[in-house]
Amino acid sequence: MRRPVVMSLSPRGGGNSDQAADLFARCLHGESHALRLRDHHVAPCTGCGACAAAGVCRMSGEDAADDLFMRLDQASGLVLTAPVYFYHLPSQAKAWIDRAQSRYLARQAGLTAVGAVRPAYAVIVAGRPRGEKLFEGILPTLRYFLDVLDFRLEGTALLRGIDEAGDFSGCHEAMQAVRDLAGRSGW
Ligand SMILES: Cc1cc2nc3c(=O)[nH]c(=O)nc-3n(C[C@H](O)[C@H](O)[C@H](O)COP(=O)(O)O)c2cc1C
Repeated sequence: MRRPVVMSLSPRGGGNSDQAADLFARCLHGESHALRLRDHHVAPCTGCGACAAAGVCRMSGEDAADDLFMRLDQASGLVLTAPVYFYHLPSQAKAWIDRAQSRYLARQAGLTAVGAVRPAYAVIVAGRPRGEKLFEGILPTLRYFLDVLDFRLEGTALLRGIDEAGDFSGCHEAMQAVRDLAGRSGW
């Protein structure tokens, strides 16, 4: 049976994104653990262009980027949690996202077909308590990344003022926002 994948994209172990991911996972029937991107080695895209001809990254098999994409191929849905770093995603998360360029180009070249679109949800934590534009860098990137992998972003929890590693678990409103999002998923 296909299941949703829950993944924290934070480099900080045990921090707010991890806590949000684990809470989301606990809200899903039968799920208890979320993946952590930082547990996997992902090299950055070098823009070499090899994937434009082959449809496959030349680093495929040398690190975990494609293995992680293949795990997502098997998923019924996806939940990503991440912190805001300088108004965007942390560098490892962006490195992994850039590696999806091989998927994008393979599709553009007609080497792969569009699959069934599955739902995705995102929880983003920001240390700053205010700022209308805090999430404006991240959301379009996530949408286009998810599109390449046949996911549609169906809902978000955008949490402000969550900074120290214990802030998420100490904030009733933040935890409730994640529970509500998990409830909306219907998983
Ligand atoms: C390198 C770095 C850059 C950050 N940039 C921002 C920022 O631009 N805006 C913001 O609100 N918080 C920023 N923060 C704070 C984090 O978003 C915040 O501490 C968050 O809770 C970390 O989540 P985590 O525990 O899941 O890693 C930054 C933190 C770091 C370490």
